[in-house]
Amino acid sequence: MNDMPNGSVTITLEGTNKSIRAPLVQATVGPPVADIRKLYSDLGIFTFDPGFGMTAACESKITYIDGDQGILLYRGYPIEQLAESSDFIEVSYLLLHGELPTAAQLEEFKKGVTMHTMVHEQIRRFYDGFRRDAHPMAVLCGVVGALSAFYHDTLDITDERQREIAAFRLIAKVPTLAAMAYKYSIGQPFVYPRNDLSYAENFLYMLNAVPAEEYKVNPILAKAMDRILVLHADHEQNASTSTVRLAGSTGANPYACIAAGIAALWGPAHGGANEAVLKMLGEIGKPENIPAFISQVKDKNAHTKLMGFGHRVYKNFDPRAKIMKETCHEVLAELGIKDEPLLDMAMEMERIALSDDYFISRKLYPNVDFYSGIILKAMGIPTSMFTVLFAVARTVGWVSQWKEMIEDPSQRIGRPRQVYTGATSRDYREVAARG
Ligand code: ACO
Repeated sequence: MNDMPNGSVTITLEGTNKSIRAPLVQATVGPPVADIRKLYSDLGIFTFDPGFGMTAACESKITYIDGDQGILLYRGYPIEQLAESSDFIEVSYLLLHGELPTAAQLEEFKKGVTMHTMVHEQIRRFYDGFRRDAHPMAVLCGVVGALSAFYHDTLDITDERQREIAAFRLIAKVPTLAAMAYKYSIGQPFVYPRNDLSYAENFLYMLNAVPAEEYKVNPILAKAMDRILVLHADHEQNASTSTVRLAGSTGANPYACIAAGIAALWGPAHGGANEAVLKMLGEIGKPENIPAFISQVKDKNAHTKLMGFGHRVYKNFDPRAKIMKETCHEVLAELGIKDEPLLDMAMEMERIALSDDYFISRKLYPNVDFYSGIILKAMGIPTSMFTVLFAVARTVGWVSQWKEMIEDPSQRIGRPRQVYTGATSRDYREVAARG
């Protein structure tokens, strides 16, 4: 519980006798938030907050982050405990419903997900329309958006049962569509889901199996995949989740909203970072080149970022990165990879960066993506699929946040304001009259 004051803040417009009292909205944990909804009507001003770093756009009960302490809670449960003891399906239930399920509820939920893992046969034809060398994220954006053309019975967002089925469909079908995007890109036949496997096992199976031979899922790799899914499942109001909420606030259907989230996730500053980490490590090539690369990162004119480092919210450490680093060692040990140059380079880079004043003073620490790419590469997942996998995991977070928003009576269409700095009103001139 926080020890922040109750009450309000007074905002006074200097040079006038105008002021407002902005009530403080109390969070269960974390700082209170000044409710400035009357700012424009009473003072005639807006706030300026590029990137929304100081603005709470909604109330949420789903995920809590304390960036200074390195804390991440899903519905109050620490991420470390969930990564250690729970699994992705249970975490999905928790995110969606707010409580850990009883054994019966968990069974029912599992059934709800598995009975929706297949996609409409006609969706297969969508893939033929894409170039084989298309990025799987491009394909995933398209086909997830296209789900709204198939599942008309779940487009009425005012119907609770339809929202529930849409949630099941998205959680169940996104891995199938993601695996199909991968299979298409390598010219292999699509693999139908297997409902006797766990969520993570089934995903690995659909990615790796071929009809010509039996494929056995390695339980250690399935456990690692499950953990990656748990760690990425939600992260409060990040760019892609805010995109989902903004799209959803217009009343758009859930499939369209999740497609919008996938588009936002794709960028290298967000979900594309683990792909970018591997690209960066590949370009650096060998440990001897690390100091020169770090100098380049510190040179503002070089416009180079140390990918996998830094976070908008975590200014101490990213708790997910710690678990990811441990998982990385476990996976490499299981696969008998004793000498992985990329891991050696990543660890050396982390060591150098964490002792360099540039990174220390800016509170830049490894984020979740710094090690996840190395694990995925070791598991044989191609780089282009990294962000796709992130989208698979985050779908449940997006759906939970979308559902919470739709069920919130104070929800209204998202509509940020701007500081207009363009031309003032002027008259049109015919082309001949323009100098
Ligand atoms: N490498 C070098 N310098 C950095 C880095 C980095 N990775 N990240 C931030 N900085 C510097 C900035 O240049 C800035 O320096 P300045 O004060 O001298 O101008 C300072 O640190 C503050 O950075 P901001 O850009 O204000 O931080 P912001 O919160 O806006 O950005 C972000 C966060 C986008 C994650 C950024 O750190 C970044 O681009 N990191 C690399 C990409 C990455 O790993 N993204 C994954 C994020 S986790 C996720 O989405 C799952």
